[in-house]
Amino acid sequence: MPDMLVKLYELPEPYEAERALAARGVYIKRALAPDRSEIVRFAYTRIEETQFADEVSVALAQTPARCYIAEREGRLIGFSCFETTAPDFFGPIAVEPPERGRGVGRALLLRALATMREMGYGYAIIGWAGEDVAAFYERCVGATRIPGSEPGIYARLVRRGG
Ligand SMILES: CC(C)(COP(=O)(O)OP(=O)(O)OC[C@H]1O[C@@H](n2cnc3c(N)ncnc32)[C@H](O)[C@@H]1OP(=O)(O)O)[C@@H](O)C(=O)NCCC(=O)NCCS
Repeated sequence: MPDMLVKLYELPEPYEAERALAARGVYIKRALAPDRSEIVRFAYTRIEETQFADEVSVALAQTPARCYIAEREGRLIGFSCFETTAPDFFGPIAVEPPERGRGVGRALLLRALATMREMGYGYAIIGWAGEDVAAFYERCVGATRIPGSEPGIYARLVRRGG
């Protein structure tokens, strides 16, 4: 799965997406360390696709946390993280399956990338973007695939055996 590049200087304004969600009782917040166990557990138990919990744990070990959460009525429904596997890398991001397709992923993505822009980065790298989600990144933030980036930094993962 290749990495993707996002131009942070052309990032869409994040707050419009958040206002629409707030009208439906969904709020995007920067995660806090006391919620670390709950967010990591959510990543383990509610997100079936991949092994995100280790990276979420790293995001929450930093202060301020490199993690945003989406919450509705006091219940966690999604997260986005950055600077977990490498500096300037975005990810992982996930929304629990029943909540997908309602703009939560876009709002979580935009808020995390806007924070990376405020940190001074000109570009963000979306690490290991699967074929099934590349279109999400293209659509929301104009991300483009980085040629020759597979497996990139992930070549040294234990489970790749390389
Ligand atoms: C990817 C994910 C976070 C998207 O969250 P979401 O809340 O469903 O996304 P949104 O509703 O905000 O979608 C925003 C736009 O992207 C589109 N979109 C969402 N997922 C898409 C996908 N997989 N492929 C193509 N387009 C997609 C939506 O149709 C919407 O388009 P619009 O401009 O017409 O409104 C969610 O599907 C998810 O959690 N997937 C599993 C975890 C995962 O694979 N994460 C990525 C790791 S690299």
